[in-house]
Amino acid sequence: MKFFVDTANIEDIKKANDMGVICGVTTNPSLIAKEGRDFNEVIRQITSIVDGPISGEVKATITDAKGMIEEGCEIAAIHPNMVVKIPMTAEGLKACNVLSSKGIKVNVTLIFSANQALLAARAGAAFVSPFLGRLDDISVRGVGLIKEISKIFKEAGLETKIIAASIRNPIHVTDCALAGADIATVPYKVIEQMTRHPLTDAGIEKFKDDYRAVFGE
Ligand code: E4P
Repeated sequence: MKFFVDTANIEDIKKANDMGVICGVTTNPSLIAKEGRDFNEVIRQITSIVDGPISGEVKATITDAKGMIEEGCEIAAIHPNMVVKIPMTAEGLKACNVLSSKGIKVNVTLIFSANQALLAARAGAAFVSPFLGRLDDISVRGVGLIKEISKIFKEAGLETKIIAASIRNPIHVTDCALAGADIATVPYKVIEQMTRHPLTDAGIEKFKDDYRAVFGE
């Protein structure tokens, strides 16, 4: 399973990229709004840092296929690595179909059922984003959805990649890897949490103490 970082925060993207663990970035209207900066400016900056798929979502206020196609073409023109993120609706599928047939990569987002994922794949999506954490929030096991989609895509020979999204903690990450997700898009805070283990910290302290006891500082 590969990693993308799920943020529009430039400092967090730089930190994750410097570790060498991510190969893409996902953003959404809430993450862009959190930064309070111009969409195009933020996206351009991200493309200059990470050399991999960068998902930029169509404006949350655009809900018709025509509008999504127009904006999708503008987003795709920003950089060759751009992936257009489209919400999972009937209009979104129409837009996905048109954009994909133009050779533009689409990430269909806000996936909460296996049928939605299958429809998006058939409409030509390069990526689907099932939201794990938001399902867990309503007491539905999000990891179960990742397993279902992975099995269906394998059996149908579909090449659409599964991006496990709405990841809230390190356990989600392990669960997604075991469930067959191709990619997990992870907030920087969770990447940091994944680096830690109390026995690693204790081991570092013991090595320091043993070294100092014989050789000093
Ligand atoms: C996915 O691409 C979304 O940006 C994101 O993972 C949503 O996560 P949230 O449910 O924590 O907002």
